[in-house]
Amino acid sequence: MNIPLVDLGAQHAEIADEVRAGLDEVFARTAFVGGPAVGRFETAYAAYVGAAHCVGVANGTDALELALRAAGVRPGGEVILPANTFIATAEAVSRIGALPVLVDVDPTYLLIDPAAVRAALTSRTEAIVPVHLFGQVAPVEEIGKIAADAGVPMIEDAAQSQGARRFGQPAGSFGLAAGTSFYPGKNLGAAGDAGGVTTSDAAVARTVRVLSAHGSEHKYDHEAIGFNSRLDTVQAVYLEAKLRRLEGWNAARRTAAERYGAALATVAGVVAPTSAEGNEDVWHLYVVQVDERDRVLASLHDAGVGAGIHYPTPLHLTAAYADLGLGRGAFPVAEAAADRILSLPMYPHLTADQQGAVVEALATAVGG
Ligand SMILES: Cc1ncc(COP(=O)(O)O)c(C=O)c1O
Repeated sequence: MNIPLVDLGAQHAEIADEVRAGLDEVFARTAFVGGPAVGRFETAYAAYVGAAHCVGVANGTDALELALRAAGVRPGGEVILPANTFIATAEAVSRIGALPVLVDVDPTYLLIDPAAVRAALTSRTEAIVPVHLFGQVAPVEEIGKIAADAGVPMIEDAAQSQGARRFGQPAGSFGLAAGTSFYPGKNLGAAGDAGGVTTSDAAVARTVRVLSAHGSEHKYDHEAIGFNSRLDTVQAVYLEAKLRRLEGWNAARRTAAERYGAALATVAGVVAPTSAEGNEDVWHLYVVQVDERDRVLASLHDAGVGAGIHYPTPLHLTAAYADLGLGRGAFPVAEAAADRILSLPMYPHLTADQQGAVVEALATAVGG
């Protein structure tokens, strides 16, 4: 048996012909930076998210950094974000010279805890970044209200939530801006690194676009010291083709999540994930919780199941963020979860038979 954590092959097969035709056009025009495909994708993705603008950039980390910069985060400022996220959320803050202020998550969904956010506010807080982890949507009403009361922007990390909705509204449209990643394994994944900022604020969109292109709106007219962080044209072609299928692929993930949920209900010792009320999750990852996680993980690997851990180390316990001076015990919920979480294979083309085999291997592992 070999069931990978993520299988991109079937997705590629669906779009291969369309992509080939799109790439032929790019190569014929030799428009390798910019060109019509980039603008077309940005327009389509903004519409999909329900934002007025999408600015394509080189990757999700840049998207978050540029969104935070455009939102006014400065060196020395504080930005509140969850301890349980991919390190890029914090890197985007640190690269500005601002301070990531980590907070704990809730024990059920492992999303940023609004009460912890409120407690972490200071006069130096310049932004709050809820992360829509695993394909969920963070509690944006509460976080948005805390941000509004404090007079600071909410910037969403929407890297894992393309297509997710909360009470019908898409992730990426709640804050002043959102950064997203089109890393290949994401729900909307490119054929390499890519990212985007969505916003309905014209000034934020303009600042992100200017910063992403050497600080210039018009060539050689440099208003600011910027970056070279544009959405690659080849990636735009790939993403356009995938975006057309994203709703169907997310629906297939939801079906797979329901199948896992039904099967795991009878497996003692496995806590299956659930969706918060109002959330239409897109199941970027399917994360269960088990005792003796490392032993269970090894057993799954031995059985040919490509399970993973997202993420094994809360940010404050990584070497990269040792300087924050926060030891074990700082964020008990994130720390306890990190020892118990296990991501099962999840992708649109995962079959019921494959899921049956995963559940069987998991049941054997937790029972053994
Ligand atoms: C939650 C989260 N934030 C940010 C990123 C950064 O995106 P990228 O890898 O495209 O820089 C990722 C993905 O890698 C992510 O999962």
